[in-house]
Amino acid sequence: MNRIVLFLIILLVGQPTGMSREAKEYDKDVNYDASRIPRYDLPPLLVSSTGKPITTPEAWHNLRRPEILSLFSSLIYGRVPQPAHPVNVSFEVVKKDPDFMNGKATRKDVKIHLDNENGKISMHFLVFTPNQAEKPVPAFLKHSFNNTQSNDFDASTSNPGRLKNGWPLGDFFDRGYGFCAVYQQDLVGHNEVEFLKGIHKLFYPKGQSFPKAHEWGVLSACAWGASRGMDYLETDPDIDHTRIAIMGHSKMGKATLWTAAQDTRFALAISAQSGCAGAALWRRKSGETLKKMVTRFPYWLCRNAWKFVENEDDLPVDQHMLLACIAPRPVYVHSSTEDTWADSRGEYLSAYHASEVYRLLGGTGLKSPKTPEIRQPVLNSDVGYHIREGGHSIQMYDWLRFMDFADIHLKKE
Ligand code: GCU
Repeated sequence: MNRIVLFLIILLVGQPTGMSREAKEYDKDVNYDASRIPRYDLPPLLVSSTGKPITTPEAWHNLRRPEILSLFSSLIYGRVPQPAHPVNVSFEVVKKDPDFMNGKATRKDVKIHLDNENGKISMHFLVFTPNQAEKPVPAFLKHSFNNTQSNDFDASTSNPGRLKNGWPLGDFFDRGYGFCAVYQQDLVGHNEVEFLKGIHKLFYPKGQSFPKAHEWGVLSACAWGASRGMDYLETDPDIDHTRIAIMGHSKMGKATLWTAAQDTRFALAISAQSGCAGAALWRRKSGETLKKMVTRFPYWLCRNAWKFVENEDDLPVDQHMLLACIAPRPVYVHSSTEDTWADSRGEYLSAYHASEVYRLLGGTGLKSPKTPEIRQPVLNSDVGYHIREGGHSIQMYDWLRFMDFADIHLKKE
């Protein structure tokens, strides 16, 4: 499609939104009816592309996992190319406040500078660490939308221990966790269609001005950015970088899974309502579909993914395989009953099917194909899950379950 026409379509329909049903007109041909879900067979996790059964952890790690990651790279999210000139990564703590939240924590505002002969950009990274805890602390790293305006402490008594954006940092500090956030829009626009200003331009060889069909889209750029956040954490003595839980909601839940699948430095991953291109299975075509996604957000994935619109059965992967690539590191999936756009059932089934690999690697997983009851979290399993009533957001109930899951899996010796 002509890029200008596409750009106009996106301006009209692709504004940042929640997954709630605000897009009434937009989702009128979407299936939410379980009885109309097509019949499908998932690609097998434990058979290699040449038909070899995968029966040992070694065969998983050396053969099948690399195969699957490569397929996700070139067909779904897009591969990060070798940059034409090496990208220098450097860190600058631009502000340090040891009295954050009335002295409960220290806040560092870090700039991650990225530069090479093609240009220079900086990504904002926030790091909070509790003052009382023994250092270095485990921490959560949140893939965050660009809300730098709202990450101040809310000193009003109605919201003790929270930031203005709702993040319950007081609870994290009380449990001995640090909390970090990476601001992806410093690297790539929410619904980027040009790829001329952000991180992509640093990677172009002479003559290139747009990602190739198999090269990184928006979500892949977000994942790359979180890994640069991890590069910084490896240098911060207040943080135990071997115990970092990566998390994100919705679009950022998708980016979270792709980050954790590739970057094994992350010890645990939490996908909050990540839906289509996150935890939900493509083949169910329930709620948001590949077609819907690439119509509104054409470059969240790579252009190769467009080829599978209405041909999901031809995909050599489905999203349970993405979760499996995180194994044996614990993964937690969160859904809610009214978040039908994200296909809660498909999110659960991905986690359930990925459990097969966790078990092969000596871990534990979800035992039943049946979605658990509302507010019956599965925590004592390397693949965790909860569903609650309500819609598309992270509520206090969810935050506390994420912390419970991390308490069990990140704090054990
Ligand atoms: C849109 C999009 C979803 C995405 C969501 C969000 O609704 O269709 O895939 O998860 O935005 O990020 O809130």
